[in-house]
Amino acid sequence: MADIICVIGNKGGTGKTTLSHMLCQGMGLLGQRSVCVLTDTHREPLDPAGRRYLIADARSREALARVTDKIRSLKAWLGVIDGGGNRTEMDRRLYELADLVLLPFRDSHEDLRTVIRDLEMFPRAYAIPTQWPTNAWQREAAENAVAQLLASHRDRILDPVFSLSASKILLQKQVPAGLPTPLANACRAMAHQVVDLLQLPLEEGIIPWQGAARQAAAPPMAVAA
Ligand SMILES: Nc1ncnc2c1ncn2[C@@H]1O[C@H](COP(=O)(O)OP(=O)(O)OP(=O)(O)O)[C@@H](O)[C@H]1O
Ligand SMILES: [Mg+2]
Repeated sequence: MADIICVIGNKGGTGKTTLSHMLCQGMGLLGQRSVCVLTDTHREPLDPAGRRYLIADARSREALARVTDKIRSLKAWLGVIDGGGNRTEMDRRLYELADLVLLPFRDSHEDLRTVIRDLEMFPRAYAIPTQWPTNAWQREAAENAVAQLLASHRDRILDPVFSLSASKILLQKQVPAGLPTPLANACRAMAHQVVDLLQLPLEEGIIPWQGAARQAAAPPMAVAA
């Protein structure tokens, strides 16, 4: 049966939509079929042309039920549901139906406070640092803040998705042919984390570019014990 991943969290602008699309694109690059599901009533569906995944519009309660039933009925597919900030009831519903829940957060104390609350509210969820600083000093400061404030949840923090200007390409209505290599690598690295968490049986060797992400990925985030 297909797996469903929900990308949620109480705070707006943390990178839920970007992460959902990066994850789907990365899955496509690894040979895994996926659907990126829009639930945010303030956004329009994006054009699927040129992407390595499908797009589903589930902006109403009925559409969400239909789309999740359809995904569940497909063998070996993944559904990635992009939540919308400030919708606690919706987040609770998505949490209940998900096999894996991701809570993106940025390098700010406000995001950290919010993600701590979300981690406590959603005990199966994983937090994932997004738009993470690439500058060494800023990164160290960000990691120190996480180590201090999220110490008791350190087993539930994934490797960061770094700040990458090209990530906005995936949120364009239409994507250009051929994505920049750093974006493709970041998408694969993200997808690999989820493959590991869900223990997805990828068919190694079939996709020629598979495996490159591990080498390209930045080192795991150090969170002090
Ligand atoms: N890894 C990244 N690197 C650089 N910019 C990013 C990254 N992830 C997200 N952004 C930028 O941050 C902004 C917010 O991202 P996004 O729309 O994905 O957040 P969101 O959580 O879906 O927001 P909302 O709560 O409004 O739905 C966008 O301008 C996006 O381009
Ligand atoms: Mg969004």
